Amino acid sequence: MVSDEQIQHYKDHGFVILENFLSPEELAGAREEVEVFIPGWLDYAADPKRPKPANWDETLVSRRSRRFPFKGTHLNTITMHPELRRFASMMAGGGDIFCEQSDLIYKCKGHYADNDQVMHLDYVNHTLAYPPEDPAYWQTAFLIYYTDVAAHEAPTAVCSWQNYKDEILWPPVHTKADRPSLYENEVKATVSAGSVLAYSMRTFHRGTAFLEEGARVAHFVSYAPAKPRWMGIIGWPEQGIYPSFSAWMEKATPQERELIGFPAPNDPYWSDETVAGVSARYPEMDMTPYKK
Ligand SMILES: [Fe+2]
Repeated sequence: MVSDEQIQHYKDHGFVILENFLSPEELAGAREEVEVFIPGWLDYAADPKRPKPANWDETLVSRRSRRFPFKGTHLNTITMHPELRRFASMMAGGGDIFCEQSDLIYKCKGHYADNDQVMHLDYVNHTLAYPPEDPAYWQTAFLIYYTDVAAHEAPTAVCSWQNYKDEILWPPVHTKADRPSLYENEVKATVSAGSVLAYSMRTFHRGTAFLEEGARVAHFVSYAPAKPRWMGIIGWPEQGIYPSFSAWMEKATPQERELIGFPAPNDPYWSDETVAGVSARYPEMDMTPYKK
């Protein structure tokens, strides 16, 4: 459970580090699936004296190929972790929420993703508008770490919003030269595997570069209030061509399907035709909740 103190820290600073958020079983399950997805990366992260994993020097890979739904169950279950959902819903005023994104991200020293980023806000590709303080429009981002992250292993750096309170947050990017205080006040999320960094669209942060050989595997999950249509980073129907998507859809609960934008059982969408059509598309889906 996320504690009241942790929730207060998020409200005061725009971020919170949840140490050892995942249970040992959840972490072990996730790591098993990571190993299948990107063989060798976890062993290399644990011991960077070993040879680097195969294809570590890949060029830009589409995030589309490394996002939810994943093969297996653990990464999908963590995407919809009840405590992440509770946290995101609470910050959004307690209403229905939508899962915007669930991407596995990994990098090592020299990898194309190994960059010393500038301080930025993520909202530019999470909403077409502007992220107000109003909870009705609150998007929460989570970085879930599947490897330990020490100071030299590219920790995410984050700067408390106490340093930029009451400002219109534009521009969404600041170099060290134009706003050194964001960098002077940054906190680096050095964590053990299984920990989570929660932040917001109003929180300045940046990826840092590896200072020594090493690797980092993490999972980026974000949630938004369900109703506004101008938020989100991807469209889930884009994933609809993948067999893994159909497999997840068939096994998910109606509530889990709603989290990615599928019509709820009481939605006027449902008719004899749509029940028959959806059932034809997903033969293993229990259609009982959608029948009038
Ligand atoms: Fe970012």
